[in-house]
Amino acid sequence: MSAEKNSAVRHFLDLSDHEPATLTAILNEAKRRKQARKGLHKGVPDADKPLDGHILAMIFDRQSTRTRISFDVGMRQLGGTTIMLTGAQMQLAREETIADTARVLSRYVDIVMIRLLDHEMVQDLAAHSDIPVINGLTKLSHPCQVIADLLTFEEKKGPVKGRTIAWSGDANNVCTSWVHAAVKLGFNLRVAAPPELQARPALKEWVKAHKGKVQFTTNAEEAVDGAECIVSDAWVSMGDEDSTKRHNLLKPYQVNPRLMAHAAKDAIFMHCLPAHRGEEVTDDIIDGPQSAVWDEAENRLHAQKAIMQWCLGKL
Ligand code: CP
Ligand code: NVA
Repeated sequence: MSAEKNSAVRHFLDLSDHEPATLTAILNEAKRRKQARKGLHKGVPDADKPLDGHILAMIFDRQSTRTRISFDVGMRQLGGTTIMLTGAQMQLAREETIADTARVLSRYVDIVMIRLLDHEMVQDLAAHSDIPVINGLTKLSHPCQVIADLLTFEEKKGPVKGRTIAWSGDANNVCTSWVHAAVKLGFNLRVAAPPELQARPALKEWVKAHKGKVQFTTNAEEAVDGAECIVSDAWVSMGDEDSTKRHNLLKPYQVNPRLMAHAAKDAIFMHCLPAHRGEEVTDDIIDGPQSAVWDEAENRLHAQKAIMQWCLGKL
């Protein structure tokens, strides 16, 4: 039985937990809400406010620009309100357990979004919570990002099923959520990463067990060949050691005009941001006509509104 069916509370921790129909419903609602807001001032709530009176608590143990702002704005547009917290401000920093924190939050607010590198702690929070918990990035995955990315791909290229997308760089948290999405939604994903920064064996086994069309390689040109979308991310993620060795390993995976030339002619470029220009991507690509990164950043807002609605039974 999937984790989705197993739990009475609708958590959003990993794309691999969800039925394809749930992911599709979230994507469709995100598209519908984005369309419905066309021309509206950003501060104006949506015409319908399905989360009227609901309170979202956000806990950030790490930095964030997009996740923080888009969840806050999204909840307000849906009629709810937000509380912004950091782990350091909470008794979590003085050794209150994550389980006890979950029990207490459940008595005050309706939904929690957390950014914490320790994935198991986020799972523990969810396990002891009577309210939905959303993963706002762990060291293992970044599911909200990839819902926004899928929305962006489909806006530009049409339905993702059966299409070919390439990842070039560190097979990190964002990459893991891309792998989950490829298996769940039936598209081809080619992941190029150095041997030292490949996807974990457990993820590769999960792909195999689910007969996913994900190819893991060390060759960026091979991965990108004919792909309709190239995705990259920082060489040094939060929690990684910023070493010369890491930069050297990742240099051949930089998305630049030479690598992009191997992709389909009208391929798009995506990146979750923040970008490190001159490292994983060159200025001419991220600022060029094939770049979809600003729409991708905007789509965090629309995607997460639909995720919150699903979590709270409003979808
Ligand atoms: N892409 C993303 O999650 O950005 P932030 O770290 O700014 O939230
Ligand atoms: N892989 C990056 C994503 C940042 C949004 C990190 O974990 O730092």
